[in-house]
Amino acid sequence: MIITVDGPAASGKGTLAKKLAAHYGLPHLDTGLLYRGVGYLMMQSGHALDDAAMAARVAQELDLFKIDQEHLRSDEVGEAASKVAAIPGVRAALLKLQQDFARQPGGAVLDGRDTGTVIAPDADVKLFVTASPEVRAKRRHIELAARRTPVEYCAVISDIKKRDERDSERSIAPLKPAPDAVLLDTTDLDIEAAFRAAIEIVEAPRAGRTRP
Ligand code: CDP
Repeated sequence: MIITVDGPAASGKGTLAKKLAAHYGLPHLDTGLLYRGVGYLMMQSGHALDDAAMAARVAQELDLFKIDQEHLRSDEVGEAASKVAAIPGVRAALLKLQQDFARQPGGAVLDGRDTGTVIAPDADVKLFVTASPEVRAKRRHIELAARRTPVEYCAVISDIKKRDERDSERSIAPLKPAPDAVLLDTTDLDIEAAFRAAIEIVEAPRAGRTRP
């Protein structure tokens, strides 16, 4: 079974995808880490984030195992990821790896922005996870504080809105629900409630019900 989980920053998609993967015993790929890896390496080497040829080369040679994952989680790297993710050569370089992951025997869970639209349009279940920008900013604010990289709430929400706009309006693989995705709004749901709702969505066809 292939499950895709797409949605904007801090919507809860990563946590849900991880929990779904553990529940169904499937491998999980956080596709955002790939773009974060490219953004991070571009920043590290001092290249401009709009240097399309260099970014595409970095994407082709990307080896996430060589990067300390802690470096990839900052807001700054998220912002850089969103910039390099709009470069067609970067997306092309990362495509096959993601498609191969999705098509492995037994299936997989992938989360990101375009996993249900571009990477695995034939997925068995597609979730599109959303939440209000305020709630998402609150979650990200807490997450960053826990990682001891405190940022003002107003900076976090402005970054989230900027990133939503950039990710939704880019011409290549924009953030949008696949026509057959099921929307899951987690604004008023804690992790456990969101997980229960996600399981219901995955199980609905097996139980002969239409998806909620
Ligand atoms: O965790 P958060 O949602 O903040 O970010 P992420 O999923 O790690 O993604 C970081 C950035 O990578 C996003 O803002 C997107 O621009 C880009 N991305 C993408 O374009 N396509 C994907 N499949 C995943 C991430």
